[in-house]
Amino acid sequence: MDHFNYRDGELYAEDIPVSAIADRFGTPAYVYSRATLERHYRAYDDALRDHPHLVCYAVKANSNLAVLNVLARLGAGFDIVSAGELERVLRAGGDPSRVVFSGVGKQEWEMKRALEVGVRCFNVESDTELDRLNAVAGELGVKAPISLRVNPDVDAGTHPYISTGLKENKFGIDIAEASQVYARAAGMPNLDVKGVDCHIGSQLTSVSPFLDALDRVLALIDSLADQGIHIHHLDMGGGLGVTYNQEQPPQPSDYVKALAERLGDRKLELILEPGRSIAANAGILVTRVEFLKCTEHRNFAIIDAAMNDLIRPALYSAWQAIIPVKPHQDGEEKAWDLVGPVCETGDFLGKDRHLRLQAGDLLAVRSAGAYGFVMSSNYNTRNRPPELMVDGDQVHVVRRRETLEDQLAPESCLPE
Ligand code: LLP
Repeated sequence: MDHFNYRDGELYAEDIPVSAIADRFGTPAYVYSRATLERHYRAYDDALRDHPHLVCYAVKANSNLAVLNVLARLGAGFDIVSAGELERVLRAGGDPSRVVFSGVGKQEWEMKRALEVGVRCFNVESDTELDRLNAVAGELGVKAPISLRVNPDVDAGTHPYISTGLKENKFGIDIAEASQVYARAAGMPNLDVKGVDCHIGSQLTSVSPFLDALDRVLALIDSLADQGIHIHHLDMGGGLGVTYNQEQPPQPSDYVKALAERLGDRKLELILEPGRSIAANAGILVTRVEFLKCTEHRNFAIIDAAMNDLIRPALYSAWQAIIPVKPHQDGEEKAWDLVGPVCETGDFLGKDRHLRLQAGDLLAVRSAGAYGFVMSSNYNTRNRPPELMVDGDQVHVVRRRETLEDQLAPESCLPE
């Protein structure tokens, strides 16, 4: 459930008409709902009340400072994949001791910074990363807390670009080799083995791949105990899907209850790294129809948002609902391709959408709160949209619209 609903014939973001936001701040614009973010975070946190746990929001899904701050105020942890994300968390008031650091390519300076601020754990993705981390920690005279990201070789049944838990993916350490790598890690002077980590993919719509992965990881934890290596936490990563169209993913509460049940009375802290399921349906992208262009073959609605603002449809053929901000009661319904101004045929946000449209109409692309703004670019020298956060009947600019000056500032011509 989210807080973007129709009231009196028009779309509201919490208690504000979306049309009023568009009039005030222009389009395209990302609009987030604080209450929705909070609700989604709490769904995880509340369901795990009776089990030691830490919900580490995956910063990559939406790293706006205000989003991070809203979650930090609720006591969230964070899953980061770069030193840049770490600085965002710190500036947003996040607690470094609740941060886990994932990613296959951590650089020395990033490790150093994470050790200095005292992150909870490094999710180490390769044997060679262990050596690097051990050396960096040694230079600083500290012990780095680690878990190994193991690759349990389960098919998450999701889009190939966002499936990560198969043997052929670049992520993690083959679970069959994990015991050996753990033994090495345990023998390194500057590392402290804390946990086991896995993340099998994103936008999963059923619990069973997670449970398959969990069973394999628990078997590993048992065999590590036989080796004398005791694991304190289990990080199951992120990946729970959301409803974009007809999908019916499990609720976070059902998902975590299933995990907790399988864990039984093991003394393992459960860490989760949800991104999409917290942020996606807490955001919309508001856009205006510039022109209607009907050809013999297709009906195009040219809108002011484009693939540079929201790349998911172009990149993954992702389907996101596109709804009118003020639906017309009459007029002919047609099938429209909603296309942006960028010079690429792949520049569409939706195809074959049945809508009653007029030029000047406002539309809302739903489920745009995750992997939306964060994946935007300046392609075609387009200024990136503002990010706005609604909180009840207030709207806050949490990132202003970019200007051409912002874009050009880092560039220069050759000397005369
Ligand atoms: N943890 C790790 C290690 C991850 O790699 C990811 C996502 C997450 C957590 C969060 O997963 P989530 O709960 O959001 O599914 N850009 C793509 C999604 C890429 C996901 C990458 N990793 C999209 O727009 O669908």
